[in-house]
Amino acid sequence: MNADARWDDFDPALYVEKNYSRVLSVDETIMTVVRAHFSDHFRRRSGRSVHGIDVGAGANLYPALSMLPWCDRITLLDRSKSNLEYLRQQIVGHDDGWESFWRKLCLDDAYAGMPGGPWARLSEVARVEQGDILQPVDRPERWQTGTMFFVAESISTSITEFHRAVRHFLETLTPGAPFAAAFMEHSQGYWVGDTWFPACDVSQAEISASIKRVTDSVRTYRIGGPGEVRPGYTSIILACGFR
Ligand SMILES: C[S@@+](CC[C@H](N)C(=O)[O-])C[C@H]1O[C@@H](n2cnc3c(N)ncnc32)[C@H](O)[C@@H]1O
Repeated sequence: MNADARWDDFDPALYVEKNYSRVLSVDETIMTVVRAHFSDHFRRRSGRSVHGIDVGAGANLYPALSMLPWCDRITLLDRSKSNLEYLRQQIVGHDDGWESFWRKLCLDDAYAGMPGGPWARLSEVARVEQGDILQPVDRPERWQTGTMFFVAESISTSITEFHRAVRHFLETLTPGAPFAAAFMEHSQGYWVGDTWFPACDVSQAEISASIKRVTDSVRTYRIGGPGEVRPGYTSIILACGFR
């Protein structure tokens, strides 16, 4: 179960070194699809800024960066104290490595043309918040765009908790909100340094069906093959859609 894992021992520096010290081709493909999904949506919809949320933000800034051109607030939600501390540090003084992720997003003019660049804007709009996506969504606030990367299947072995995380993520969004969610298919769990974290073994069909309990407006993509990021999964599944 999610509550049994050692989330406060999650080491963000080791996680970033292993996963995000350079832009892997799978991340480049994810950013290409997500960038187009958000940009196409918001291009047709001029006017006021929206509130975005990245659920289980952990030690990854690129989901938040992918929403940045359109948001005047971005909530970075996580349950791990160490990851929350990492996020607080990064929004006031980011590591250089994240610049290469931003440069990939800048292949679209909405990102490239952001006045003043991303970093001052990120520290202005980001709100780091401790929270548990498995708890009931009992607050009135809703977000108009959202991301959840490698979270629902990567926080527990329980299929019930997997479905609950997907449902709660989608329920935090307003109807019609564009979202992007990434998953490791058939994940067997993962190490961060010497600490083991659980995963739920789900297929692309199960991921898609879980999202479709809330919205039919979703498309899933298979990105990369087994072992490209680490051993013990079969592919990355990216889901882009509208709540
Ligand atoms: C595999 S990491 C993914 C991190 C990041 N989103 C990424 O793309 O690399 C899973 C994240 O979920 C967070 N997490 C675990 N349980 C959670 C919960 N119940 N609610 C919110 N976040 C949780 C962890 O602290 C960790 O940051």
